[in-house]
Amino acid sequence: MPPVSTTSPARTDPCQRTDHIAVGAFLGPLTVPFDVTSDDREDDADRNHDNDHDHDNDHDLPDPHNLIAAARDIQSAAHVPYSEYRVGAALETADGEVFVGCNLENANFSNSLHAEEVAIAEAVKNGHREFTRLAVSSDRRDGVTPCGMCRQTLSEFCEDDLIVFCDEGEDEGPTVYTLGDLLPNTISEETLE
Ligand code: THU
Ligand code: ZN
Repeated sequence: MPPVSTTSPARTDPCQRTDHIAVGAFLGPLTVPFDVTSDDREDDADRNHDNDHDHDNDHDLPDPHNLIAAARDIQSAAHVPYSEYRVGAALETADGEVFVGCNLENANFSNSLHAEEVAIAEAVKNGHREFTRLAVSSDRRDGVTPCGMCRQTLSEFCEDDLIVFCDEGEDEGPTVYTLGDLLPNTISEETLE
């Protein structure tokens, strides 16, 4: 019998904190208050710049607002003639840079690239190997999570404590997971040593 986890990923009440996210506080998915309108995107960009130096340590990260806004914005570049389902991903590096990706579909469906794959490829080819947080968003604001393949791809470069925000839209905060919640006990480099 495989081990059975006793902590089920049930949602909790919305968290009241909007100023920052304490990484260590997330032991399972939860929601945080969140509201993005197109009017405040410009302000976000300014704040994002200011936030570049806000990483006092790994346990005190800026509000995820800008990361989710970036995952929403890149959806306009998605190539989705088959599913018409736009996905955006924004991956934050340990030094506060953000790399984005969107889904790029192919007439040979299995050749399609997922948003998270494109984002992590962009980050890694630019020399980044340490990541803190990921936001994923679809144009339906349906809380889409990274698929199984993307979870495995992320696990190649990210630790189990990577925070994953899944965009539920304006009325609800994002659902928050860790990569370890989404993909426990997976194969890794250590497995092959
Ligand atoms: N998709 C992603 O981009 N990321 C995921 O992990 C879930 C699925 C895309 C692939 C396809 O273009 C569309 O969503 C429908 O599956
Ligand atoms: Zn995927």
